[in-house]
Amino acid sequence: MIALACDHSGIELKKEIMAMLDAMGLTWKDFGTYDTASCDYPVYGYRAAKAVASGECDRGILICGTGIGIGIAASKVRGIRVCSCSDVYSAELSKRHNNSNILTLGARVVGIDLAKMIATHWLTAEFEGGRHQRRVDLLTAIENGEEL
Ligand code: RB5
Repeated sequence: MIALACDHSGIELKKEIMAMLDAMGLTWKDFGTYDTASCDYPVYGYRAAKAVASGECDRGILICGTGIGIGIAASKVRGIRVCSCSDVYSAELSKRHNNSNILTLGARVVGIDLAKMIATHWLTAEFEGGRHQRRVDLLTAIENGEEL
């Protein structure tokens, strides 16, 4: 189950991502916002990130104007590793090396076709583990207040 969320700027792209996920046979849950009325991205980023952190959803795709604000909001939730991507290489490597569990996209930065390509690369990439697991564990240690 993929958590989806956006602010007012991301409604159109979120609908495109929903259709793409349907075509891929992947299930999703929409945590809002649901229309183009101006709203505050932290609310929706937080709700979707909580669903990923709790295990209700496996991963999430969040959208705001730049992908930055909603990514910062999601990053505040323990256990969340966000990648804010405008290119396919970063999206794929963020999964293979960082085991990112939330992708954020900037609806005012990338076109719809590129955004869908970025999301596809991120969704289909696999975490490589090994030395990357050690580094991800260190990220968790930071989150737990440990000294490195
Ligand atoms: C909303 O205008 C805009 O600030 C928001 O979508 C996002 O880009 C924030 O990071």
